[in-house]
Amino acid sequence: MIYLDCAATSLQKPQGVAAASCRAINHMASPGRGSHRPAMDAADCVLNCRLLMAEYFNVNDPDKVIFTINATHALNIAVASLVDPGDKVVISGYEHNAVLRPLTAYGADIVVARSPLFDPAAVTEAYRQALPGAKCAVINHVSNVFGFILPIEEISALCHEFEVPLIIDASQSAGVIPIDFTALGAAFIAMPGHKSLLGPQGTGVLLCNYPVKPVLFGGTGSNSLLSSMPDYLPDRLEAGTHNVAGIAGLTHSLRYLMSKPPRYVLEHETALRTCFERRICDIDGLTLYSSCDPDCQSGVLSVVSQNPACDELAEILGSMGICVRSGLHCAPLAHETAGTTETGTVRFSFSPFNTCTDVFQASEALKKIFINR
Ligand code: ALA
Repeated sequence: MIYLDCAATSLQKPQGVAAASCRAINHMASPGRGSHRPAMDAADCVLNCRLLMAEYFNVNDPDKVIFTINATHALNIAVASLVDPGDKVVISGYEHNAVLRPLTAYGADIVVARSPLFDPAAVTEAYRQALPGAKCAVINHVSNVFGFILPIEEISALCHEFEVPLIIDASQSAGVIPIDFTALGAAFIAMPGHKSLLGPQGTGVLLCNYPVKPVLFGGTGSNSLLSSMPDYLPDRLEAGTHNVAGIAGLTHSLRYLMSKPPRYVLEHETALRTCFERRICDIDGLTLYSSCDPDCQSGVLSVVSQNPACDELAEILGSMGICVRSGLHCAPLAHETAGTTETGTVRFSFSPFNTCTDVFQASEALKKIFINR
């Protein structure tokens, strides 16, 4: 099997991640719920991961690192903290439903800063025009559909200029592109643990630098006489028992990422993606969505095929052992931007564990499908 769907969930994890989760299941209980050994081990495990996260993303206070169940949960907290009904919220033309749906649910007046695909200067200009009067802004760091790397440094600087708090959706960039939370000065950065951070499903993180509103209420193992959530982080946002097994695995995968040079993953995945593009760009019947600027695109490539249609192509590839995702990828806005709403796309997304052999086999499979049409 060749797995090219890291943008959905990374399947190959660094060695030891599963064992770390397994050890937590067998030996750890719940942090803050006792002074016995299994509870204390769990507390140490969660604290270690928080400290590592703070180091990896340059967060000045580890308590600002919040564990969530996924990026969607993290984004829901960020939106709940910033948005009241009727507030103007500026977003990019690449946002995922994990942003669109909470904004809609909280009654935001959503303004899309539209810009053509793979044009970072146009993104910046669109935000410059749209930001005045906004209550907050959201930007997707890397499009999950097209791998377009958006200019978050420029948008962050603009948000400071206009005094608009910024939420960064780092779902596709965390673990791929170095992110400096302190330098960016964003209000929130949300991310999943199970994509390019290479951890288990059921893990996510919210980095906070803004007063927060919880979306989940319950026990924290602290201030038990209070009927409201504690007013300090991380407890304010971490109700209920943590996913200790997931966090143990995430700690392990984070150590793996921290052992690599900062741009190793981006360079590896981009090299595979460009090699793949070179091998398939001549296939008659395939349209590739790629940028000529190497700094604009990660290791994610979308293609459109009419015959077979995208869903069918993904199914055929799947039957040949090549795992990709087709459709709208929960990001209708990105497809609207690129003009691919009618067809959807077939997305190939590479991980640090994919190899040149994977690229060769996937491209040969595509050629075979189209030659035999
Ligand atoms: N958002 C994830 C994807 O792009 C699930 O596949």
